[in-house]
Amino acid sequence: MAHIPESFVQEVLSRTDIVDVISSYVSLQKKGGRYFGLCPFHGEKTASFSVSGSQQLYYCFGCHAGGNVVSFIENYENASFVETIEMLADRLNMSVPYEKGSSAQKAKSDRRSIIQEMNREAANFYYAQLLSPAGERAMNYLKDRGLTDETIRKFGLGYSLPGGNSLYNYLKSKGFDDGQLKMSGLVMFSEDRGPYDRFFNRVMFPIQDASKHVIGFGGRVMGNAEPKYLNSPETEAFDKSRNLYGLHLARSSRREGLILCEGYMDVISMHQAGFDNAVATLGTALTGPQSVMISKYGKQLLLCYDSDNAGVKAALRAMPILKRSGVTSRIIHMEPYKDPDEFIKSLGAEAFEERIGDAQNGFMFMLDIHDRDFDLEDPQGYTDCVNSAAHRVAGISDEIERVTYIKAVSERYAIEESIFKKKVDNIGLSGKAISDEAPGEPVLTGMAVKEGIEIPQNILLSLLADYPEHFKEVKDNIKPSEFEGELYQKVADMLYAGLESGRASPALILTRFEGEEEKRKVAQMFGGTNMENSTQEDIRIAIKEAMMKIKAHAAANIPKEESGNALQKAIENQKIKNRLRSKK
Ligand code: UTP
Ligand code: MN
Repeated sequence: MAHIPESFVQEVLSRTDIVDVISSYVSLQKKGGRYFGLCPFHGEKTASFSVSGSQQLYYCFGCHAGGNVVSFIENYENASFVETIEMLADRLNMSVPYEKGSSAQKAKSDRRSIIQEMNREAANFYYAQLLSPAGERAMNYLKDRGLTDETIRKFGLGYSLPGGNSLYNYLKSKGFDDGQLKMSGLVMFSEDRGPYDRFFNRVMFPIQDASKHVIGFGGRVMGNAEPKYLNSPETEAFDKSRNLYGLHLARSSRREGLILCEGYMDVISMHQAGFDNAVATLGTALTGPQSVMISKYGKQLLLCYDSDNAGVKAALRAMPILKRSGVTSRIIHMEPYKDPDEFIKSLGAEAFEERIGDAQNGFMFMLDIHDRDFDLEDPQGYTDCVNSAAHRVAGISDEIERVTYIKAVSERYAIEESIFKKKVDNIGLSGKAISDEAPGEPVLTGMAVKEGIEIPQNILLSLLADYPEHFKEVKDNIKPSEFEGELYQKVADMLYAGLESGRASPALILTRFEGEEEKRKVAQMFGGTNMENSTQEDIRIAIKEAMMKIKAHAAANIPKEESGNALQKAIENQKIKNRLRSKK
């Protein structure tokens, strides 16, 4: 396998300008220090995709996609790292000096496909164990849960042997070395125990990407131990935010659109019952990239989350994310059952088909939950409720849709349509509408999202990278350790070090992080602001406000053992605040 020397990669990157490259894919317009265009990673009508020439990073304020020029091409072209460098070199008319790959170099140049190969071997191994006498209990477990042999084969379910390192030995016999095994996350290495298998005595669920590569595993205990499911860690091949369980099968379903549910078992039961358009997230909340993937299979999605509070909350969170990708949701209700797996097991496929037919409009579902927060018996409570609902109707981004909902919602609350419409229009004009594409948990009160400390932290890091002349002042007031969150502290540390030596490069900082998820978060940190058309004074003020918020937050979070001198700290903080204010 080809390998490209690191020095050549650096050479290519140093000659490449991200603005140039992205301009050939997206039409960009300059606004202030950044370039803006329509995000290629999610459907949108207003430009929230930004590219910074000084940082050599891109970031989308809508779907939070972000990274450097390499991640852009990798994601846009669905290309491997080597292919990406080849494309970039080609633009520069540079020819790639391939090196013959030793096994170590091979691992570096295409770790992703090696991990996939290992996972494929592991899945075969687990499957064979399930069918062997050692797998009898696991097989009985799956049969008890109602799965047929065909379903087990279709999903490639398996069994990991108790204790020890049988998978380790098996993969070794297939020619993989310790370094590669470690990278796969399938094997752990401990100082005293040596290598041992991550998964043991669990029923194994291989996770495949849309092209059927095995990218990771979920493993379920057969009893009640914790954790119920253990998953592969994120690796170069396994990005939980960009894959959906079951999509490799659902993509060729003849049913319209997809059904999104919560669990592996839900997907499997639904497929077995004939609902072969079911997919699930991988144990995490729905992400923007997943929502974009979903949008390619239809503009309507059936949401089939658990009927408990956590499921309702997850559904309410997912809806605006889907909306941003142009997808509207309908809710499948499974009461009195908890999830589709239990529902189908108890009532069967026909009853489930009926529930699909009865699926509820997502907006009305949201309002049902919304209304629970008001005392509808009380005239004031009722008025407040209708008012609050009007703010949500006003936030429906599609105009035709909004008009339709004005009618439906006014009927819902028995308010005359023209009066309700006037109310909605006024809210729209006042700018107080609550957007149906807004992130967060829109309805559950008492859980109002407190303003995250991430926002000022992002602003400070981005402005520092763009306006290094403010570094001295920032450094004198805020230490990297005062940022909240380990990742922030690391990034702040690197940025400070860079600024100290006079060369701060967010793009370079990004390359020091391995996982996709981390890379995205780091890009998000540097995309934290959009100071188009701002004056030097605006920037100074923005930096100061961000510093004050970070200071105040750090002071509020003084660990208990230090509470003795909390007062002292608070006073110091106040002094700093005053100092900042007076300079303003
Ligand atoms: P559920 O607990 O609803 O799973 O978690 P389930 O599929 O209904 O499980 P069964 O029916 O008891 O076997 C939903 C999903 O959340 C993730 C898994 O992806 C699971 O399918 N999860 C759950 C974990 O990753 N770890 C856990 O410990 C629990
Ligand atoms: Mn379940």
